[in-house]
This record gives sequence, C-alpha cells and structure tokens, in this order.
Amino acid sequence: MSGVKIVGTGSALPGRVVTNDDMAKIVETSDEWISSRTGIRSRRYCDAQAGESHRTLVRDAATRALEAAGIEPAQVGVCLVATFTADTCTPSAACLLQADLGMPEDTLCLDLNAACAGFVYGLHVAECLLPGAKRPYALVVGADTLSRVMDFSDRTTCVLFGDGAGAAVLECREGYPCLHAVWGSRGDDASLYAPGVGCEEPSYLHMDGRAVFRFATDVMPLATTQVLEAAGMRADEVDRFVFHQANKRIVDFAVRKLGLDPAKCEGNIDHTGNTSAGSVPILLDELVRAGELGSGDRVLLAGFGAGLTWAGALAELA
Ligand code: UT7
Repeated sequence: MSGVKIVGTGSALPGRVVTNDDMAKIVETSDEWISSRTGIRSRRYCDAQAGESHRTLVRDAATRALEAAGIEPAQVGVCLVATFTADTCTPSAACLLQADLGMPEDTLCLDLNAACAGFVYGLHVAECLLPGAKRPYALVVGADTLSRVMDFSDRTTCVLFGDGAGAAVLECREGYPCLHAVWGSRGDDASLYAPGVGCEEPSYLHMDGRAVFRFATDVMPLATTQVLEAAGMRADEVDRFVFHQANKRIVDFAVRKLGLDPAKCEGNIDHTGNTSAGSVPILLDELVRAGELGSGDRVLLAGFGAGLTWAGALAELA
C-alpha cells in the first residue's frame, strides 16, 4: 500500500501589520475586547501598492515549501490550492501557480473550496489523487486574502480575519502511512457565507459568531477523536496538534474536552488572526521552521469553517 508524508512546508504573510489598536480606529472595539475574546493581537493585510496579492502569497508559500522539500516544480504531479478568495474565479489559483513556477502541463491543477477546512481537505484529496498522478509529489496550498471580503463597518467580523498562505509538499510512496483523514459537511448558508459572482449584495463575509462558535466546539473535538480512532492511536502518541486558528477559546475548549497537553496545541493566532485556508499550513510551517517539529513527528491537523465543513488528518513528517 502506498501512503504519504509531508516532505516540505512553506508560508507567506503579507508585510502590512494591522494591530488591534489600528482596528479600533476603524470600528468601535478595543485591544482588550479582541485579545481577551479571541487571542488575536494583530493580523496582516496584503498591500496592493507593494505588489502583494493572493497570487504572490500562494507563489511565495509554494516556492518555500518546494525549497524545503528539495524538489523542483517539474517533479510535482498534483497542485491544489484551497481558497475562496483567489484573485480570479477563473483561471484558478492553482493554474496561475503552475504558470508562475513552470510546472509541467500534465500537472493536475485545481482549486478547492472548503473554506477554513480547505487545507486539510486538500491533503486528503491529494492523497487520493497521487497514486494516479504522473509524478509522486503533490503541492497543497491553503491561502486566503480575507481583507478583500471584510465589511469594515461590521466589528463582529472585521477584527477576526487576516491574509496569508501556507503550503506543504506531500510525497506518495510505497510503505508510507495513510492520513487517516476524516471530513464532514453540514450545508448552511446562514451562519457563515460570502455572496458569489452575480449576487446583488457586495461580496462581504457574513457570520453569526455564536452559531459558528457552537459548531466549532462540536466538530473540533469530534474530528480529533475520529482521526485518533481511525489511526488506532492515543492522544499522547501524537507529537503536535495543529488546529485551525479561528479563536484561541475554541482551541482551549477542545484541549480541555479532550484532555490534551496544552503545550502541544499552542497556536499563532496572536499575530495572524484567522487566515481561513491559510491558517493550518501557516502554523505548521512556523512550527517546522522554529524547530518544534521535525523528521518522524506525527501531527494531527484539524480545521472547520464555512460550508459548513470540517476535516482532520494525521500526517507524518519525512
Ligand atoms: O474560521 C471559522 C470562522 N469563525 C469562527 O470560528 C468564529 C466563531 N465565533 C467566535 O469566535 C466568537 O463568537 C466571536 C469572537 C465572533 C464573538 O465572541 P463572543 O464571545 O461570542 O461575543 P458575542 O458575539 O456574544 O458578543 C458579545 C458582545 C456583544 O455586545 P452585547 O450584545 O453583549 O452588548 C457584541 O456586540 O461583544 C460585542 N462585540 C464587540 N465588542 C467590541 C462584538 N464584536 C465586538 C468587537 N469589539 N469587535
């Protein structure tokens, strides 16, 4: 049986730092409210004048992941970008990435929309596609530029989100483990949505925060438990948990409910905000680059988001 391992990670955050005090100049809020309710202290926004865009974040995160993996773009067989805020509906961000990096024309390139759960969905989709692909490496990117769909008159949502991209390279090989992925969807166009092309209202993100909070505290422990069951592992056998960074209180709830070691679950929301599909791979890459994760480590990743969607997977680092 073939399986997959993560052989490289990368991430890219835009240069413009927006602090909670900066947000308080836009809407009626405070650093105290935002940091105590969410754990967020600052987030990053793309600066178009500095040449930053969804496309450049995807390209930079992917380039770093390929460099870390020590492979060339020509070795990639599957290229997935999880996002719902790409610069263009079509061409897909994955096709633009193919052009930017010079990946071969027989690379399977597509975008995937499972909102904040998108990167973990993407890992599983890549695992399924790789055995039939032309080459054994998949580039999976999670990227969102939420600043472009924020309603900056709605303090209940605009303070929460930021821009960013993260990426991982998967290698498919005989004898490698499977991801033991789990996933779910609960179609709901009321609690978290952004209108699409052709809609009369502006494409702002709308969220019923309390409803999403209840959903998140339901599915995060569920997904984590299901992955552990599928893998036949105990929580203490996992080296690190990488949870979607939507709100520190959601992660803290899951940690308490599951009796996890909090030191294995720390996040980075303080300086990123919620970067949607970027959140899980950005945190993963920051941990790898900080030397907190390395070869042979087993990481349980879990995300949830609009759709509503959720997903979990257990990945080993090569
Ligand atoms: O990636 C997935 C997407 N999103 C999520 O996972 C978000 C899930 N939800 C949450 O994280 C939380 O529900 C929020 C952070 C959005 C809100 O926190 P909360 O503790 O659930 O606050 P709340 O909605 O119950 O609001 C409490 C109060 C309200 O005032 P009143 O009615 O008690 O007078 C709000 O109007 O806080 C007020 N409020 C704010 N005050 C200052 C809401 N937003 C703000 C703000 N600054 N930015």
